[in-house]
Parts: sequence; structure tokens; C-alpha cells
Amino acid sequence: MRKQGVGMSRRRLLRLAAVAGAGAVLGGVPALFAASGAERTATPVIRKSIPSSGKTLPVIGIGTARRYDVGESEEERAPIREVLRLLPELGGRGVDTAPSYGSAETVIGDLVAELGIRDQLFIATKVRQQDHDAALEEIEDSFRRLRTDRLDLLYVHNLVGWRHKLPVLREMKDAGRIRYLGISTHSESQYAQLQDIMEQEELDAIQVDYAVDNRNAEERILPLARERGIAVFTNLPFGRGRVFRALGEESIPAWAAEYGIRSWAQFALMFVVSHPAVTVAIPGTATPAYARDNVGTAHGTLPDEAVRRRMAALVDEA
Ligand SMILES: NC(=O)c1ccc[n+]([C@@H]2O[C@H](COP(=O)([O-])OP(=O)(O)OC[C@H]3O[C@@H](n4cnc5c(N)ncnc54)[C@H](OP(=O)(O)O)[C@@H]3O)[C@@H](O)[C@H]2O)c1
Repeated sequence: MRKQGVGMSRRRLLRLAAVAGAGAVLGGVPALFAASGAERTATPVIRKSIPSSGKTLPVIGIGTARRYDVGESEEERAPIREVLRLLPELGGRGVDTAPSYGSAETVIGDLVAELGIRDQLFIATKVRQQDHDAALEEIEDSFRRLRTDRLDLLYVHNLVGWRHKLPVLREMKDAGRIRYLGISTHSESQYAQLQDIMEQEELDAIQVDYAVDNRNAEERILPLARERGIAVFTNLPFGRGRVFRALGEESIPAWAAEYGIRSWAQFALMFVVSHPAVTVAIPGTATPAYARDNVGTAHGTLPDEAVRRRMAALVDEA
């Protein structure tokens, strides 16, 4: 399917009008909003397992592209420190970064050390350098910047030089320096090649783009991941904001609120993590309010396939 465009169709305007006049139908939503943060986070966190180890992770993590590329000032770092502090407190664990995200690795390394929460996080980064020696240097720089002697997950970034790099990552895994190895993409143009790699290689994880309005990965990549026992981390769950532009002005339907969904961010994330192949979604999260919202999704209830189809249909019609 194609990614949905921005703008309000006539059909959507009509539905907005219908929703506005149907307050009683939305009865579940105010009750959920009324619940305090403590009540909501008292419910168990949804976790999924990494097939190669059987270890489980909370289904929502955080992504750090662009917004973690900040300097050393307290003004810039304070909200990010609070997001990182909140992540394990709210029941989350996964942090996704990359050397190509500007100063993100340094910022994460500094703040996690300051907070003393390294053991409570699952930190994934990537290697992009093509040349063997440059790739090794890049990985060593990541260890240094992230101030850790063990990375939880290391991806070949966007498939670059995967043939040469996977053996390097395997050696590092055997030596206990990384827990898991994988490969990442965010583009359908790489799916055919990714599919070949998934069929040929032993991977612990892949990272792929998947969203309620970008479901192309459902065709081959996600079923293959299940078949091959590969964990799936998903990037761009909001299409960098595209999902909100398409749906943001409407109210959450009562049938979705029944699953603990109380914002469009939670709607989008719940769709992603309720796919049986998906292990963890990593929404870009740099503000504390968004951290509460996003990680709060993991305290809901996973919808079944029929409800997932209804969620997708709602977005398709918008
Ligand atoms: N090939 C790869 O390996 C690859 C490629 C792309 C992304 N990634 C990873 O995937 C992560 C996610 O992708 P992304 O960050 O580019 O895009 P995204 O998660 O689809 O969207 C991030 C955008 O959503 C907004 N947002 C976050 N939480 C929100 C909430 N609760 N309510 C309303 N808006 C919210 C953010 O706003 P603000 O800007 O206002 O905070 C930001 O603009 C990246 O951070 C990165 O770690 C990996």
C-alpha cells in the first residue's frame, strides 16, 4: 500500500461532524483520561520476546534521531534527561540511536551515566562505515560515546556493507561485547535485499519502517521474520508526524479506547506493536509528555486482528 497523503477528505469531514455529535458513543474516553498516571502504569507492561534468546522486552522504546543532536547546555539536555529517567520508570527499556544522529550517542552516554540507569536500558546503535577498519573504529567510538562496555544490539545501518560487516558483528557477539546483531532499513526500496539477507543469514533482529499508514512490511518482511525467528524493531511509527497530520483533529473512537488507547500516538503505536511479528516500536521521543504518552501504550491491551484491520481502515478512509 502507499503511504497516506495529508489533507482532509470530504469523507473525513463528514465523519468528524458525526463524531462531534456523538458524545455518548465516546463514553470510554473521558474515563481513561480521568485515570491518574499511577493507575495507568499500575497495569502490567506488554512485553514480547526476542526469539533467538527468549528474553522479553517492553513493546515500546524510544528513538533518538534528530532531536537528541543537542549541545551541552542544561536547557537542551534537561528534557532528554527526563525522558531517559522516565523510560524505565514507566516500564520501558529500549533506546535506539546511531553514530549518524549527530551528538545523540554522546548525549545518551552522558545522561545515562549521570542517572545511573544503564542496567535498566536496552541500548541499540548502528554501524554505517563501509570500510572494514573505519567500521571497527566507528563501533569503538560508539562504545566510548555511549559509555558502555556492552551494547545490547548493533545493527548494520541501512544494509550498508552488510556482507563484510555481519562477520565482524558476529565476532563481537561471540566475544560478549554485543548481545544481539541485526540489520536496519527504513525504505521499501531495500525490502527485496533485506528479504534475501534474512533468508541467508542468522540475524537476531531487524529494524524496519512500519506504521498504520505504511504497512508494506506486512507483505513479506514481517511474515519472514516470524518464520526465521527474528525480532522486529520498528522505526517511523508516526511517519515523522505524517500519521498525526492525517488524523490528529479527530477524537479517538470508543472501540479503540477500550484497548487503553487515549491519543493518536497510542493508536498508531498500538497498531504497530499488536502485529504478531513486531517486538518493539521505537517512536522518536524527546519530550517528557510524549514519553508518558508513548510508553503508556504498553500498559494497554493488544487488539486482535479484526480490530487491527478496523484501525487500518480508519486511517485509509481519513
Ligand atoms: N534506518 C534506520 O535505522 C532508521 C531510520 C529512521 C528512523 N530510525 C529510528 O527510528 C526512530 C523513530 O523515527 P523518527 O523519530 O524519525 O520518526 P517517528 O517516530 O515516526 O516520529 C517522530 C515525530 O513524532 C513526534 N512525536 C513523538 N511522540 C509524539 C506524541 N506522543 N504525540 C505527538 N507527536 C509525537 C515527534 O515530535 P517532536 O519532534 O516535537 O518531539 C517527532 O516529530 C528514530 O528516532 C530512530 O531512532 C532508524
